Amino acid sequence: MSSVMYKEYASEYDVAIQGNLYNAKFERPSLLSLLTELEGKKLLDLGCGPGVYAQELISRGASVTAIDNSEDMIEITRAKIGSNHKAYVQDISIGLPNEKSGEFDVVICPLAIHYLKDLNPLFSDVRRVLKHNGQFIFSTNHPNVDFRSSPSGDYFATEEINEEWHTLGRPVPVTYYRRPISALAGSISCSGMVISNIFEGLPTEELKKASLAVFEKLSTKLSFMFYVCKLA
Ligand SMILES: C[S@@+](CC[C@H](N)C(=O)[O-])C[C@H]1O[C@@H](n2cnc3c(N)ncnc32)[C@H](O)[C@@H]1O
Repeated sequence: MSSVMYKEYASEYDVAIQGNLYNAKFERPSLLSLLTELEGKKLLDLGCGPGVYAQELISRGASVTAIDNSEDMIEITRAKIGSNHKAYVQDISIGLPNEKSGEFDVVICPLAIHYLKDLNPLFSDVRRVLKHNGQFIFSTNHPNVDFRSSPSGDYFATEEINEEWHTLGRPVPVTYYRRPISALAGSISCSGMVISNIFEGLPTEELKKASLAVFEKLSTKLSFMFYVCKLA
């Protein structure tokens, strides 16, 4: 499941998330704050989008493999990260057939797992490709926030949601899955990983300067969730 936002409008999405409130001034700094020293580490970036994370991780000394199912996103990412790093098209809903076992120190997946109906194939492969002391760090929409758009009204259902998002400054249709925290935790546990940290994000001073209203909203209301997992 994906959206025209990540295909036809990939270049616009790239521009939009460089400095916006929710991605640049909240979600990215929150997820990046969970990463430890990256110098010399091998990092896998799942659902890499236009390579904004990949560029940052490379600047911190990591060797990056970036994957997305959108050819347009991979083209943009390749142009940014150059030939010393890998970027290729792959649907992560079927897992990671091209990656070797025990290859990565860190796997990240910012804001992409909610496009997958079944998390088990991906999570079990993430466990397989992680080194013994590796970490899997991902972010996703908070299921309680998405519950506002629930067609069933059943928090415990895993369900498809169709909405319009305004990331590009106009309504763009997006389809994604909302699932309860227990279903997410179940997939992590089934894969042989354990959750070592759950974080709900920290609004930055930069966000406060850019928009006091959004800073106050994100300081007091739910938005995203961030998970840090390791091998059980
Ligand atoms: C919200 S964007 C996030 C991009 C990037 N992780 C970031 O935070 O800047 C979600 C990305 O996930 C990708 N995606 C969605 N479903 C996917 C799938 N099944 N396999 C691989 N990538 C997928 C989309 O193409 C899009 O680039």
